[in-house]
Amino acid sequence: MLQKAAVIGSAFAALARTVGAAQPGAAQPVPAPMRDLVWGKLNFLHTTDTHGWHAGHLQEPQYSADWGDYVSFAEHMRAKADRDGVDLLLVDTGDRVEGNGLYDASDPKGKYYYDIYREQAVDLICTGNHELYVASTADREHQRTVPNFRQNYIASNLDYVDPESGERMPMAQRYRKFQTKNQKLDVVAFGFLFDFTGNANNTVVQPVEETVQEQWFQDAIREEADVFVVIGHVGVHMPEFRTIFRAIRKQNPLAPILFFGGHVHVRDATAYDSRSFAVASGRYFETIGWMSVDGELERTAHSEDADFSFHRRYIDNNLVGLHYHTGLNESTFPTEHGRNVSAMITKARDELKLDQTFGCAPKTLWMSRSPYPGKDSIYSWLENEVLPDVAVNSSRGDVPRLVILNTGAIRFDIFKGPFTRDTTYIVSPFLSAFTYIPNVPYRIARKVIKLLNSAGKIMESGPMDNRFMAIPEQLVIHEDIVHESPAADAYADAFGQKPLGGSAEKRPRLTEGYTTKDDIGSDGDDTVHAPVNFYVVPNCVQAEVEFPTDGEPETVDLVFLDFITPWVLMALRLLGGEYSQKDVQPYIEGTLTGLMTGWIEKNWPKDC
Ligand SMILES: *[C@@H]1O[C@H](CO)[C@@H](O)[C@H](O)[C@H]1NC(C)=O
Ligand SMILES: *[C@@H]1O[C@H](CO)[C@@H](O)[C@H](O)[C@H]1NC(C)=O
Ligand SMILES: *[C@@H]1O[C@H](CO)[C@@H](O)[C@H](O)[C@H]1NC(C)=O
Ligand SMILES: *[C@@H]1O[C@H](CO)[C@@H](O)[C@H](O)[C@H]1NC(C)=O
Repeated sequence: MLQKAAVIGSAFAALARTVGAAQPGAAQPVPAPMRDLVWGKLNFLHTTDTHGWHAGHLQEPQYSADWGDYVSFAEHMRAKADRDGVDLLLVDTGDRVEGNGLYDASDPKGKYYYDIYREQAVDLICTGNHELYVASTADREHQRTVPNFRQNYIASNLDYVDPESGERMPMAQRYRKFQTKNQKLDVVAFGFLFDFTGNANNTVVQPVEETVQEQWFQDAIREEADVFVVIGHVGVHMPEFRTIFRAIRKQNPLAPILFFGGHVHVRDATAYDSRSFAVASGRYFETIGWMSVDGELERTAHSEDADFSFHRRYIDNNLVGLHYHTGLNESTFPTEHGRNVSAMITKARDELKLDQTFGCAPKTLWMSRSPYPGKDSIYSWLENEVLPDVAVNSSRGDVPRLVILNTGAIRFDIFKGPFTRDTTYIVSPFLSAFTYIPNVPYRIARKVIKLLNSAGKIMESGPMDNRFMAIPEQLVIHEDIVHESPAADAYADAFGQKPLGGSAEKRPRLTEGYTTKDDIGSDGDDTVHAPVNFYVVPNCVQAEVEFPTDGEPETVDLVFLDFITPWVLMALRLLGGEYSQKDVQPYIEGTLTGLMTGWIEKNWPKDC
């Protein structure tokens, strides 16, 4: 305990400086008490679900380092591994695209992103579902990222269909066998995608249960390996990883098996048995995951009683923390390569005019950090202010209507300050438009929202789970609502003691951020934070527009985002309304994103 306190004390002192943030205009990074990285013989840095956030979070100091800083960080960490005679590998598990202007704002999409991303020397890389929704995205992934990482890209259960020849081929190599640089450890690595079915028709995803029975897979797990590494766009608690684990373990009772997952946008870790370990490293380039394994890793030493130890850390993508973990400072940390990559990003952002401001947000609007309904809820703002104003078609202007929006259509908070071109892609990256069914009896229409918001599923199984309309983070958080707790308690939780000194002024002031609890414990985050509130939001919210002041309307127009059409039709059917796809018509031109941006231009002050 004493030793820990000393580490915290010195780290805090060492960090109590400000440093220049990565991108011009980015928020200044913030110091905070830190937990150290534990190195082993084999060490990993992991990114997942970065969704185009390679410029970092310009409005959030906690995550404002950029891809160039990560290039510098990895360079220093590799140098340390070389000095110590251990190995370091970099992993990325997909969903690199969609969700930030750096990718979405160009035509074609990703005009700058592919060249920026490739600058990082990623050793093991695979595909996420977002690389596959749109055929042209999958084409570009195959034409650009796969060749950029020729030796390192793995597609164990994914095929690509060539647009010219129609020929079906593996997206990339099925697995990778290689030796680590310093210890010459034999690694056999796989790269999976969960059993995804929403892909465009130029890729084919093979269910994991089938892949593990393929001859090539059965041969691969019989290769001489010191360590098996499975990377995947798969949550670490999803059944696909269990299936892969069981298949490898059956053939290799003693070998360490390491998993790197993603998709569910959370920091998470677990162990499937005492010789396996799995980590997932968050979302949106807020987190750089760390895993290390120590012990007798050579296969000749894999006896019954050989002991392996595993560690994980979730590193905030905060420049101050990256300096801390490398023991460097503002002037010694950036490498020439890292600076070059940061400059590439700045240039791309300029050319994409991502800083162009549509209006100035008068306050921060939260998705789940403040309660819905409530004055700081982004959903209440949409429901009360935006939707009644923008969900209008003059030909149906005075018809009472219910306007339904699924909460998953919004992907990020709006921070007080400039609402830019970049923000539009961040907050609502989808091309969702409003559709409607005219003249639905109100006695039926009024009950639709209740069904959409009921727990579980409207239909028995498959993609109709109601929760898919809400934000993906809720898939794993469930009813585990975090309430406000004073910083001192978070400190006590983290270190098992109250901070030294007692008086409030002497305590390190904790910033709000991740306070992760996973199957391994509550010491995973590299930075000690005060917890962030998390309030569960409904699957859908609804605005009532043009309602009579007295009484109820006889019929209403039922207006909703096209994405939720299948759920709405199913709900109507359950309520006795026989409607089908042919009753659903376009309501207004433009996307939710475009309409919201238009509203902001009209209603928020231009300058901050
Ligand atoms: C894939 O879908 C596109 C667009 O819907 C269609 O034109 C094409 O024929 C389809 N290709 C195959 C191989 O089914
Ligand atoms: C950074 O570290 C170097 C080497 O230890 C030192 O010379 C320099 O003064 C430090 N710079 C800052 C800004 O602290
Ligand atoms: C950085 O950019 C400069 C100028 O374009 C170039 O000369 C240099 O080779 C680059 N260095 C690295 C390590 O990428
Ligand atoms: C209103 O609806 C009509 C009929 O569906 C459509 O032609 C028109 O474009 C819509 N108006 C707007 C502003 O979207």
